[in-house]
Amino acid sequence: MSSRLEETFYQQDFVSVNQIQDRETVDELFESAYEMEERVAARDVGDVLAGHAIPIIFYQPSTRTALSFLYAAKRLGAYSEAMHDMTFSSAAKGESLPDSIRAIQNVTGASAIVLRHPDDASSQEAANYAEVPIINAGSGKREHPTQALLDLLTIHAKKQTFDNLKVALVGDLLYGRTVKSLALLLSRIGHNNQFYFASAPQLRFPEDFLATLPNGTRFTEMDNIHDALDADVLYMTRTQKEWFEQEGRLDEYEELKAKLVLTNDMAEMMPQDAIIMHPLPRQEELRYGVDKNPRAAYFDQMKYGLYLRMAILKAILVPGS
Ligand code: NCD
Repeated sequence: MSSRLEETFYQQDFVSVNQIQDRETVDELFESAYEMEERVAARDVGDVLAGHAIPIIFYQPSTRTALSFLYAAKRLGAYSEAMHDMTFSSAAKGESLPDSIRAIQNVTGASAIVLRHPDDASSQEAANYAEVPIINAGSGKREHPTQALLDLLTIHAKKQTFDNLKVALVGDLLYGRTVKSLALLLSRIGHNNQFYFASAPQLRFPEDFLATLPNGTRFTEMDNIHDALDADVLYMTRTQKEWFEQEGRLDEYEELKAKLVLTNDMAEMMPQDAIIMHPLPRQEELRYGVDKNPRAAYFDQMKYGLYLRMAILKAILVPGS
């Protein structure tokens, strides 16, 4: 009998968080991720991906996402390399993404390709041309589906639930992709959550994004963190300098980058069992003084990234997962 996890992921592209339609899929994926956690701790991860090649192709910078995919693949026995510096790729000669993706697939004998790219439609475009699953590791300003899942896994691990929570998404909601994917996933898969969307007025979620949230999603937009300090989950993000740069708005970046800043004094005002998350890297918005606060969950969040990505790779490549 096939599982919901298998139906959702086996041999499928994973380009958007919208592909996750039901809670059962998430429950089964998390069960697998917790099993990965135990196996990593026991240094016993097996080789379920032996014989598979998984190239990891990043057209934008990354530390956590690229390395966690690389080590997730390797720990499960796959052959995997990360290609990071695309200034040495044929993209620098003007090769199109459809051509590059087919080249990457064929020269490596890939079973799946992990892709990060600055265009919103990049993963879908690559999926239209590749014969093997494309896994979106961040596309433009819109989607970062594996990050949303690892964020949800972190919430689940720390709060034992992802229902009935007040969740504050803070920072650059205009350009940030992690907050968009997480808002979509949590509003569809969780029950009875309430969102605070806290940002400078210039960095609110775009209207066309808000329109994609399910009917009945409860949210309040605010322009400061103080009004969000009763949240159960406070999810900070950096102001995304690269997009300001691209749009010729760097002077505005300087003005906006430190508008919503979380200090440890503020963190201390939150409920005792609240958690503070951040996809990282951080800039000025999350003070180093918060790191020792027991509510800080952002270093553990990275660990869940490894377990979650191991579980995703297995679900995509191994039948009967
Ligand atoms: C995020 C990204 O690339 O969108 N980083 C990550 O994957 N952990 C967040 C960011 O760059 O601000």
